[in-house]
Amino acid sequence: MQGSELVLEQVTKSFSGAPAVDAVSLTVRPHEFLTLLGPSGSGKTTILRMVGGFLSPDTGRILIDGVDVSGVPVERRPTAMLFQQLSLWPHLNVSRNVSFGLELRHRPKQEIARRVHELLSVVGLAELGSRLPAQLSGGQQQRVALARALALEPRILLLDEPFSALDTKLRVELRTFVRSLQREVGTTTLLVTHDQEEALELSDRIVVMRDGHVEQVGSPTDIYETPATTFVAEFLGAMNFFTGAASGQQVRLAGDVAVPVDEGVLAAGDRLEMGVRPEDVVLDADAGLPARFTVEEVTSKGHFRALRLRCGALDLRAFVDKGVVVAPGDDVAVRFRKVHLFGSGGGGQVAPEAAAERPVAAPSAMAVRGASGTSGSGSRP
Ligand SMILES: Nc1ncnc2c1ncn2[C@@H]1O[C@H](COP(=O)(O)OP(=O)(O)OP(=O)(O)O)[C@@H](O)[C@H]1O
Ligand SMILES: [Mg+2]
Repeated sequence: MQGSELVLEQVTKSFSGAPAVDAVSLTVRPHEFLTLLGPSGSGKTTILRMVGGFLSPDTGRILIDGVDVSGVPVERRPTAMLFQQLSLWPHLNVSRNVSFGLELRHRPKQEIARRVHELLSVVGLAELGSRLPAQLSGGQQQRVALARALALEPRILLLDEPFSALDTKLRVELRTFVRSLQREVGTTTLLVTHDQEEALELSDRIVVMRDGHVEQVGSPTDIYETPATTFVAEFLGAMNFFTGAASGQQVRLAGDVAVPVDEGVLAAGDRLEMGVRPEDVVLDADAGLPARFTVEEVTSKGHFRALRLRCGALDLRAFVDKGVVVAPGDDVAVRFRKVHLFGSGGGGQVAPEAAAERPVAAPSAMAVRGASGTSGSGSRP
């Protein structure tokens, strides 16, 4: 198994005085598949470029298997990077683009030919070895770039949006391939993507980035089920947000709408920023329920339906089974299967019992606690 440990210690990088990466500390375990997820400009590519040796941090250290790699040039790092902007050599044909790194390393000719053929077959381009990059589609170029990165058999693979130019079917195929190869070979992999489905499916852990800093690190399940902040909640998956108050088995929302919640979800308590995932909005046949919403819009999403519901000024998105029969104008009762409670500034998520305990003062001073019992930082006043 070839896969190195990668550690970032307080790594900072600024451009013209503005920090693109701000004191980021991160450990990627050997053989781990870690995804950097975040909006445009949040510093993802800058991190990858520093690990690959294309940029130097202003401050902080990058360690590979415990060794500080500052001063180690790109070609001597055990890393290979697939760039966001395609960077195939335009004057070399597809085969030579893939073999070039191996030639530089003076591998035997036969081995190189075998390896190139193998890699091009894997990415579905075995027939196109003699084409020039300009004679390929964007998706085909992306696959050549992936084959080229894999040819070097890196111990850390850096992938910057590697599947973005591919159609849905190819994207799924190629990411399944990358994941199984990664499992087999054990290459530590750092992936950058905007695609939340990709992140959820591929990653051992996800790092959510915002404005150059790490907002949350966790397994896909942790991040989805227990988002630490409203930013994370919105970035990964959809979430309805309300200001409300928990009271017993109900959530009191604006306009005095009370929505029942499943048992054990809430304790009682204070006014909070509240999040409900659309799939946790349940249409309930029980006509006795107090929360009546009017269906405003029904959109088919293939395997489920997205509804827009309204009750006074309250807008609610719900995802329901495609078998649920509703039409605009219908009146429905809803309940919440699960709610997420955040501090008033959208800060740390509060466990229900903690929220019930005492008034919430400031988000920065709140206990952050996941449902799984993992702990975050911060303490209560
Ligand atoms: N060479 C550079 N010179 C000046 N500013 C830069 C440079 N590279 C990046 N930046 C700035 O640093 C910030 C982070 O950029 P980065 O490319 O890391 O973002 P990203 O998260 O990869 O975004 P995207 O998803 O759009 O690719 C941005 O504000 C960007 O404009
Ligand atoms: Mg980028």
